[in-house]
Amino acid sequence: MTLEGLRVAITGASRDTGRRLAEAFAERGARLFLSARDLAAAERVASMINRRGLGRADAFLCDLAVADSVRAFAASLNDRTPSLDVLINNGAVYLEGRDLPDVSDDEIESVMAAGATGTLLLTKHLLPLLRASSRPDIVNMISACGEVGHRRSGAHPAFYAAKHAHAGLAEILSYRLRPEGIRVISLFPPDFVQEGPRRADGDLTARSVIDCVLFAVGQPRDCFIREFHFEQVQRG
Ligand SMILES: NC(=O)c1ccc[n+]([C@@H]2O[C@H](COP(=O)([O-])OP(=O)(O)OC[C@H]3O[C@@H](n4cnc5c(N)ncnc54)[C@H](OP(=O)(O)O)[C@@H]3O)[C@@H](O)[C@H]2O)c1
Repeated sequence: MTLEGLRVAITGASRDTGRRLAEAFAERGARLFLSARDLAAAERVASMINRRGLGRADAFLCDLAVADSVRAFAASLNDRTPSLDVLINNGAVYLEGRDLPDVSDDEIESVMAAGATGTLLLTKHLLPLLRASSRPDIVNMISACGEVGHRRSGAHPAFYAAKHAHAGLAEILSYRLRPEGIRVISLFPPDFVQEGPRRADGDLTARSVIDCVLFAVGQPRDCFIREFHFEQVQRG
């Protein structure tokens, strides 16, 4: 599949799934705008992609938990490109804990600020660039924790709350942006591993999650895949 010249912005792109998404799009010829809350870390990923000479990547600072940082990233993108084809809302803080008091107030604030408010603000501020594209997609890396009735994760309730906020945003945007031809594609994976065998009795891998993103984005425009849900491996 060629995604030659596709203009793709990814949040939380400095490591793990965000970095792998960047590499996968770069290998297919995309033009990447990579953001992270640590600019140097985003720059390292961008340099590695540029050295390999497949796609082309620029690095930006974007702390999703800080509204001014989100707006500054959107403004920088506006200066750099006339349109954006794909926004991947990937960056999010994970928090473990069964009981509300298990984590500090600051941690709760940062999970909600990044996963809920920051993601919403970024989508809002990048919408003009997406509207200027002939093939705009918004991809949301949500989580099974954002599914109604999901209880199987050991994530903190704040993580569940942030992912439900992200899922609610994706749900209404999918409906309201459909008439404009903007596809809103959301993934609800359970816990997955970065590396591992791709077997029926193994955990879901980042590679498979990324393949779902590439597949959905690569479809012709009549095909609007709204959501990916996954059955979790049963243990014990
Ligand atoms: N891995 C899983 O099991 C799993 C399951 C379901 C859903 N997901 C979702 O899939 C996405 C990627 O997962 P992952 O496993 O790669 O997650 P991860 O390893 O926890 O990495 C999270 C990424 O988000 C970034 N981030 C955290 N807070 C941020 C902020 N305030 N502003 C900007 N970036 C921030 C991190 O950057 P730093 O390096 O600065 O921390 C990192 O790049 C996330 O949305 C995650 O919630 C993951």
